Amino acid sequence: MSMDHKTDILIQGVSKIFRTGFGKSKIGVQNLNLEVPKGQVVGLLGPNGSGKSTTIKMILGFLRPTSGKISVCGHQVPSQITRSFIGYLPENPRFPKFLSGRSLLTFYGRLLSLSGKELETRIDFLLDLVNLKGASDEKVQGYSKGMTQRLAIAQALINKPRLLIFDEPMSGLDPLGRKDIRSLIGRIHSELPEASIFFSSHILEDIEQLCSMVALLKKGQLQTFCSIDELLKSDNQKFEVSVRTSKETEVKTLNGTDELIEFLSQSKSKGFLVSSINSQRRTLEEALFRDGNAGMKLNRTGSPEVQP
Ligand SMILES: Nc1ncnc2c1ncn2[C@@H]1O[C@H](COP(=O)(O)OP(=O)(O)O)[C@@H](O)[C@H]1O
Ligand SMILES: [Mg+2]
Repeated sequence: MSMDHKTDILIQGVSKIFRTGFGKSKIGVQNLNLEVPKGQVVGLLGPNGSGKSTTIKMILGFLRPTSGKISVCGHQVPSQITRSFIGYLPENPRFPKFLSGRSLLTFYGRLLSLSGKELETRIDFLLDLVNLKGASDEKVQGYSKGMTQRLAIAQALINKPRLLIFDEPMSGLDPLGRKDIRSLIGRIHSELPEASIFFSSHILEDIEQLCSMVALLKKGQLQTFCSIDELLKSDNQKFEVSVRTSKETEVKTLNGTDELIEFLSQSKSKGFLVSSINSQRRTLEEALFRDGNAGMKLNRTGSPEVQP
């Protein structure tokens, strides 16, 4: 067993074609290549129907690729062992309503052969982590959507997984609930820095604030896969400079440091007073959706949409 693997998820040339009957088929994903190094927080971004859940189900071994190969922590999928490495949050987690949060976690823990003091300690730790300690003895029936989601995340973590896969963990939540899940994912990452977190979202904001890497899917095809830092690298950093001329204040936008320096020296020689310089960090939105990804536009909630 390779414990010293460097890659948590390796997807090589994977396609999934769904046969939908009457000789028809539908593309789930097409020729997907992804390599997730250990300890990353990776956002899988894409509009509805772009292949996010299909990708996730294939990593889990729930769906078999039509072609290509997948391995998890150095082991070929599907196998019993890869499944045991992964903590999974499905798109719409459901629980029996009549049990309390704590008894549900106990139930799932026992399914994974945990018991006694060890399980109890683990559950206390997890309830604390997902901020459900106060509600742990209430029936799940009374839980809000956000609380249910947090309980499902605790469930995904019971087995101390090496890899976490969350399918749309923020979907269907109000802004406060989204923020809760976002900070929870951040907390999980600092508690388990070794474990990669791979999660899908159709909201750019969620990805931008949390992820070290982003994969952008569109119609089953990978458009971009790289580190956020790389994407936001300031190769064409913009500066906004305000100068006071003899009569008025002017604001000028300059592209890159060369332009900035040239402008400052001109201002100086003309005797203008530079009152402020602001550097504008490129946003992920700009980086992801310029030319190469024309056809993707952002709607008001920040989620990419495919134009007809
Ligand atoms: N079981 C299935 N049978 C047929 N088509 C499917 C099935 N699952 C997904 N698809 C199709 O594959 C594409 C990708 O779907 P999905 O992976 O669920 O997208 P996402 O999770 O990004 O919304 C969609 O066109 C969807 O209709
Ligand atoms: Mg989905």
